[in-house]
Amino acid sequence: MKGVLLAGGTGSRLYPITYTGPKQLVPIANKPVLDYAIEDLREAGITEIGVVLGNKGRDAIQEHLGDGSAYDVEITYIVQGDPLGLAHAVGCARDFVGDDSFVVYLGDDLMRDGITDMVANFDSSEYSAGIGLQEVDEPSRYGIVEVNDSGDIVSLVEKPDDPPSNLALIGIYVFTPAIFEQIESLTPSWRGELEITDAIQGLLETGSRVQSHLVHGWWKDTGKPEDVLQANRLVLDNMDGQIEGDIQDGASVSGRVELQKNAVIEGGAVVRGPVSIGEGTRVCSDSYIGPYTSIGEQSIVDNVHIEASVTMGHNEIKTDSKIVDSLVGREACVKSSDSKPEGERITVGRNSTLEL
Ligand code: DAU
Repeated sequence: MKGVLLAGGTGSRLYPITYTGPKQLVPIANKPVLDYAIEDLREAGITEIGVVLGNKGRDAIQEHLGDGSAYDVEITYIVQGDPLGLAHAVGCARDFVGDDSFVVYLGDDLMRDGITDMVANFDSSEYSAGIGLQEVDEPSRYGIVEVNDSGDIVSLVEKPDDPPSNLALIGIYVFTPAIFEQIESLTPSWRGELEITDAIQGLLETGSRVQSHLVHGWWKDTGKPEDVLQANRLVLDNMDGQIEGDIQDGASVSGRVELQKNAVIEGGAVVRGPVSIGEGTRVCSDSYIGPYTSIGEQSIVDNVHIEASVTMGHNEIKTDSKIVDSLVGREACVKSSDSKPEGERITVGRNSTLEL
């Protein structure tokens, strides 16, 4: 079975973070979201992976994943271009998948328990598609299914105003090639996209059966800044911790901490896990890094109190303010200043949020 990883889209709900790069490369515990998906596919025995690319971040994704050999998989790139919808993206992969069943994985999704069970349980002799489901608190944000008393799926609807249930499509699908006929007959939805949810509804309406797979471990769509922070928390909660960098005398390090190569925690600094500190980063004395924080690579953290936050790398963070629940984009600088006149000096781009 082949895998199709969707890595197009605009990432507009993650602005300003995604002005400069694709959302699929946003790091969660110092690893891009997309890497987790590749690992899940490989773990399920899927090593031929088609990565669907949009216009945004196309080069960055190709540069990051290469030919896949670093992940022990073989990657084929498929260009979708404009984000015309998930069904359009899947349709672009038609030649790549050929006549066999295939898995579709949304490139901004994260799952605790991977996809092995769902893929292994899919029965292509009985069903035309299989969908991963989980109960959610805000059903109007997702594709939602309605099931009958015997647990069979009777209908699907994308982001409904009046959700018929709270069972959401989590963005993992197994399809037989029957899906392509449905995709061809779709028209754009109210949000102007060709919806994969509508294509699956089409399968039901033409008499095909759709297998459901309830996912119990956590799952997170990293579409919005608060989702990135939550995903970071969930991943750090499962992390073992590993020290490859240098903890200097006088530093206080407790809990599960990942300290990547050439990273340094200076004497006098306090780090309380779970925390991940990226390659080449220096945590200077007088800094406090609290639980559920990921500090990106090649950064300087000096005299800072930071907690439950993600910094994406190449940052200079040197401030007396306490930073909590924050997402700091790549190469951004956060620092204190004593110069007069007193006040906050900010250089903020479009769609940025500051809570001072
Ligand atoms: O997260 C689960 C939800 O994902 C499901 O409940 C919905 O049914 C499903 O439609 C999808 O909704 P989203 O609005 O969250 O999809 P999003 O636009 O974020 O796109 C998901 C991934 O697919 C993301 O990595 C970008 C990629 N993509 C998206 C579009 C619209 C493409 O590769 N091409 C596209 O045209």
